Amino acid sequence: MDIPFKGDLASNWQLDESIIFLNHGSFGATPTLVLEEQRRWQNLMEAEPVRFFEEIAPNALLESRKAISKLLNCDYDDLALIENATSGVNTILRSLQFNPGDEIIVTNHTYQACRNSLDYVAKKSSAIVVVCDIPFPVKNSQIIFDKIVSCVNKNTKLAMIDTVTSPTGLKLPFEKIVKKLEAMGVKVLLEAAHGIGMFPMDLEEIGASFTISNCHKWLCSPKGVAIMHVRKNLQELIHPLTISHGMTFPLGETTRFRHEFDWTGTRDVSGWCVLPFLINYLENLIDGGLNEIMSLNNKLVLKGREIICKKLNIEKPCPDEMISCIATLKLPGNAVNGIPLHEPDPLHISLLEEYNIQVPVWYWPNPEGRYLRISAHLYNHDSEYEYLADALFKLLNKV
Ligand SMILES: Cc1ncc(COP(=O)(O)O)c(C=O)c1O
Repeated sequence: MDIPFKGDLASNWQLDESIIFLNHGSFGATPTLVLEEQRRWQNLMEAEPVRFFEEIAPNALLESRKAISKLLNCDYDDLALIENATSGVNTILRSLQFNPGDEIIVTNHTYQACRNSLDYVAKKSSAIVVVCDIPFPVKNSQIIFDKIVSCVNKNTKLAMIDTVTSPTGLKLPFEKIVKKLEAMGVKVLLEAAHGIGMFPMDLEEIGASFTISNCHKWLCSPKGVAIMHVRKNLQELIHPLTISHGMTFPLGETTRFRHEFDWTGTRDVSGWCVLPFLINYLENLIDGGLNEIMSLNNKLVLKGREIICKKLNIEKPCPDEMISCIATLKLPGNAVNGIPLHEPDPLHISLLEEYNIQVPVWYWPNPEGRYLRISAHLYNHDSEYEYLADALFKLLNKV
């Protein structure tokens, strides 16, 4: 098998050249110049820590919120910079008060860490977690919309809705779901771990009560950079996981939400500080900027999925419109049943050790089987999916 090409822009990333990297979806990957810009902020921090934390960082972080608010069409004062999607979900869920019998909707495709957080919160207040089963394969997004809406009743207080599901890579009709549920009086926590940088998002238009999104996935920021958006009228309900000075700081001309989220203790804020640079970098990386990057990534993953389905003679599990920049396929053959999520599938190990391919393979129970999830970003090339398809064909047909 010929070693595949890399995308034309691959040299902008730090990725190991010997690896066929098809898992942007888990942790993202950050371009070299962005990491250098982060280092510049760290040098500023270490040159004069007091001035940095008291004067430089507050202004820089304001600029970061402003830059993100332009991308997401929202008020920058309704945004908090947080570390990751998991902490954002925990922040919202652990701030809200639930009463015994209150219902919270989630789907069976939700990321397990966020589901754990929800189960924990529900158990403490005797609230009920209502799991909406989404079929996979699925014929169209209307089926998912109908199923989620049918779970609502007078006890429903909140729904945690993914933009894109982690195990199955389905782009849910989240705009439509949020609009409907919020209109029915159900607050929505939009779990957009895969969101910003993956497709355009207009938070004012979407209208969710709460939104969290990772910048370290599809916006390619340094690790530990995410945002949380809370609708103005709900901000007094939400507190950071770490209570700090902001709780009692004199209010002045700002809000308690701002005070509480702008300072949660000393930490390395350099990843957050690079956001304006990062957005400008992506806007200028190719003609058409970020919108074009998102569109190219979408086209490439669709092509990759086509190549693999053809080679393995499997059906696409959902229509193209439900694919963003990741795509999941249920592999043919016998699953290695019941391998827990935290243990590697032997196929994943063979792909990595024998073919240098980094791509997630996991067991998933709905329906039971072995699943592969591919990703696409600018550093990828069609031939990498051809190579993966050939490797899968050989490994799955090995006697
Ligand atoms: C849908 C979804 N939610 C949440 C997360 C967690 O993201 P983080 O580790 O940045 O908190 C992931 C990570 O893969 C995810 O796919």
